[in-house]
Amino acid sequence: GSSPAFVQALEAGRRGAPTDLTVLIEGESGTGKELLAQAIHRASARKGGPLVAVNCAAIPEGLLESELFGHERGAFTGAVRTRVGRFELARGGTLFLDEIGDMPLGMQAKILRAIEERRIERIGGNRPIDVDVRIIAATNQTLGRLVEEGRFRADLFYRLHGIQLRLPPLRERLDDLPELINTFLDRARRKLSRTTATLSDEALQCLWVHKWPGNVRELKHVLEGAVLLSDGIIRPEHLPPAVQTAGVTKLSTASASASAIASGRSLDETLDDVERQMILAALGRTGGVQVRAARLLGITEQSLWYRIKKHGIQARVMDSAPTASSVGK
Ligand SMILES: Nc1ncnc2c1ncn2[C@@H]1O[C@H](COP(=O)(O)OP(=O)(O)OP(=O)(O)O)[C@@H](O)[C@H]1O
Ligand SMILES: [Mg+2]
Repeated sequence: GSSPAFVQALEAGRRGAPTDLTVLIEGESGTGKELLAQAIHRASARKGGPLVAVNCAAIPEGLLESELFGHERGAFTGAVRTRVGRFELARGGTLFLDEIGDMPLGMQAKILRAIEERRIERIGGNRPIDVDVRIIAATNQTLGRLVEEGRFRADLFYRLHGIQLRLPPLRERLDDLPELINTFLDRARRKLSRTTATLSDEALQCLWVHKWPGNVRELKHVLEGAVLLSDGIIRPEHLPPAVQTAGVTKLSTASASASAIASGRSLDETLDDVERQMILAALGRTGGVQVRAARLLGITEQSLWYRIKKHGIQARVMDSAPTASSVGK
């Protein structure tokens, strides 16, 4: 991918690559943290070395230490042979600690020591082993908050902080949407050997309005599914129900008003929501071109601009460079 937010994060990672600084990547699920870690490794001086990933959330606490540091034969019941840990396997390369926010506190202390001293000890081993690794850590939680809650060690947090990259959720970087859509449509088209795969205006509108809780991964799967179901032109009915309904707000129906009342939200909140959705829908329909979106909505461009700010919508500004994305803010 080469979307602006992603490229900016990559640039920041690239600048820090030769320094071997530790990188911390924060971002919701599916925003591309692993992809970014791989890109940083490939852009670094260590690209000839291994990239070893550990998903800290997926490994049971009891096994994590042996997984990371290895063990000697006979170190504990069941340790029938020597095992080399991921720290050692990553020697000369990069160790990617994924979901580090889920790391148990005890392990955090051991990891901190390994990073600071640049050496580890296998469980049951009696000699320290030098390991030269660069650490990239990722989390879909806000580590700063975990520190405040006492669930993450402050010293490790600061140690990881060499370069901090934040991958914004897709709903905050709608600028990237057109390019991501093109990339994924094209990939899906080739994968499924279709000659064409295009989006109808209505389907495009749905994609703009949807909030994408699963971020880029969700977009990718939605488009793959849609290409599979359609015969060249993707219409709303080829999209999952959750994505479809987001696009089509049945403003005028009595049932919509009734359910708005039933939801207990105030009139202002509901109107705000409707306003946001209509703006997104108009931007979707015009490919993000604000002058045309304003005309569609029957408001001035200035008024549209004001509302876009109010709703925190990241939209392309007509006749100027794309707006800065929020990476690294
Ligand atoms: N900018 C991009 N261009 C192309 N594909 C992307 C981009 N960002 C993410 N993807 C794709 O989206 C999917 C999810 O990305 P990735 O696994 O890196 O996310 P993640 O942040 O690690 O998610 P999780 O927190 O769930 O592990 C992958 O298939 C990846 O290839
Ligand atoms: Mg991941």
